[in-house]
Amino acid sequence: MFFFRKKSKEASTSAAPPAKIVFDDRNLDPLLHYVEHYSGVNLAPKKEVLKQRLVLFCENNDIVSFDALFARIKADEAMRQSFINLITVNETYFYRETIQLEAAVAWLKERGGKARVLSAPCASGEEVYSLSMLASEAGFAPFSVNILGIDINSEAIQKAQKGVFSERSLHRLDEHLKGTYFMKIAGEYAIVRSRFLGVDFQVLNIFDDAFLRLEPFDIIFSRNMMIYFDDVFKQKTIERFHKLLKNGGRLYTGHADLVPNTPLFTKVTQGRLSYYEKV
Ligand SMILES: C[S@@+](CC[C@H](N)C(=O)[O-])C[C@H]1O[C@@H](n2cnc3c(N)ncnc32)[C@H](O)[C@@H]1O
Repeated sequence: MFFFRKKSKEASTSAAPPAKIVFDDRNLDPLLHYVEHYSGVNLAPKKEVLKQRLVLFCENNDIVSFDALFARIKADEAMRQSFINLITVNETYFYRETIQLEAAVAWLKERGGKARVLSAPCASGEEVYSLSMLASEAGFAPFSVNILGIDINSEAIQKAQKGVFSERSLHRLDEHLKGTYFMKIAGEYAIVRSRFLGVDFQVLNIFDDAFLRLEPFDIIFSRNMMIYFDDVFKQKTIERFHKLLKNGGRLYTGHADLVPNTPLFTKVTQGRLSYYEKV
């Protein structure tokens, strides 16, 4: 348990001592349980670090306890979204684990025809744009590879849609790629939209019913999301991906994602590269 003095207008103007607001961290547990049920994200290991950020979040939203925060999150969709935006980790960059991206594009090239790829989650979109750039470099015609990026974090999706990135996010790209796919504006890199036809983004929770209503995909990329899930939610996640993949479709996961054993997929390893093929 810890105590926090809420800043309030009355407190600064009246002579009476400010009221003590109590944030009892035992009251956090139902909230963390709800967040896991809603998004899969298991915040329990981060509880200590998270507490301070949540108190600040409450202060900024005039919420006086973790119980009240929980009630608001359940009842108010906008508040729930702000909370999800606060607790999700959106770290990503262009050409991350390029070996997987290249292998996926090479496979699509081999098969020929049109293809649909899902990046779930895409965070601020670098994975989606990277796949699109690799497809262009491999000679795919515009719109022959459609890539949808989804993420539960609405701010990340807004950034993806805006398509303006920092030098740091592009650190793996050479001058040819930067010059072909971006315009440098005020020290940042804005995508050249005409180079990214067939790319789309959507705010979507993979546990939402609407997720399963997406059209089937040839490839799903799901990298660095399941690391935040426990085994039960990892299992649920791969079952959902299985439903959304076409027969023989491929699932690429991050090295740290540790997919549980499942009869739904066959794991294929080729040197440093591995992926899951839908059974
Ligand atoms: C570290 S980023 C990974 C981005 C990218 N795939 C990469 O590897 O660079 C993890 C993302 O998972 C998203 N996320 C967590 N739970 C989610 C859920 N239930 N549905 C959709 N996205 C989720 C977070 O919002 C965050 O943007």
